[in-house]
Amino acid sequence: MNLENLRQEYRKNQLLESSVDPNPIRQFEQWFEAVVHAEIHEPNALTLSTVDEHGKPSSRVVLLKGISEGGFVFFSNYSSHKGRDLTQNPHGYMNFLWLELERQVRISGVIQKISREETEAYFHSRPRESQIGAWVSHQSEVIASRTVLEEQLAQITDRFRDVEVIPVPDYWGGYRLMPEQIEFWQGRPSRLHDRILYTKLKDDSWKIERLSP
Ligand SMILES: Cc1cc2nc3c(=O)[nH]c(=O)nc-3n(C[C@H](O)[C@H](O)[C@H](O)COP(=O)(O)O)c2cc1C
Repeated sequence: MNLENLRQEYRKNQLLESSVDPNPIRQFEQWFEAVVHAEIHEPNALTLSTVDEHGKPSSRVVLLKGISEGGFVFFSNYSSHKGRDLTQNPHGYMNFLWLELERQVRISGVIQKISREETEAYFHSRPRESQIGAWVSHQSEVIASRTVLEEQLAQITDRFRDVEVIPVPDYWGGYRLMPEQIEFWQGRPSRLHDRILYTKLKDDSWKIERLSP
């Protein structure tokens, strides 16, 4: 296997200080519309990094489910590794990679749980099977086999058979990352990529800088 010769030139787009939106959330929304338009599979998939109380980092993919109150919302199990990390250290990092458009977006900030009302509204908008799935999964715990999961699914499906509105498990809900920095990366020829970094200032305005590729 020779990886050294795997090499792509990026030449689809450019990103200029003169043309970016002064607000990074609006800039993100513009890029997000473009990826949706490009019909990329799971355009809302992002890699989320967290750090535990010993400073040990970990990453996993989650799905962006909305942008509200100036922050980026995703849903998970509050008892998972990410949930436990965020209890100890609320700083997180999101990374979106949209290779089809030769683009990356990196977002750092503080992550907090959203309100229970917001979680409930989203939970009940999900298909019933996904709602039951949240009850079945004690995310990232070791289980003996697939059969155990299927038995639990059967039990919980039976338990909720006559229940019209399935309650939200108390260990499940949403998080919102409030951005402190957002970097937009656009691939360019000869590895001279465009990188535009927004940093939030104390007065809530955004500073815009170009970074070396
Ligand atoms: C495409 C994709 C989407 C995913 N979406 C979510 C999600 O929205 N929420 C979630 O908790 N896990 C999601 N996962 C699973 C996580 O990557 C991960 O396995 C899980 O959250 C446990 O991670 P943790 O123990 O580090 O917290 C997704 C995985 C993939 C590959």
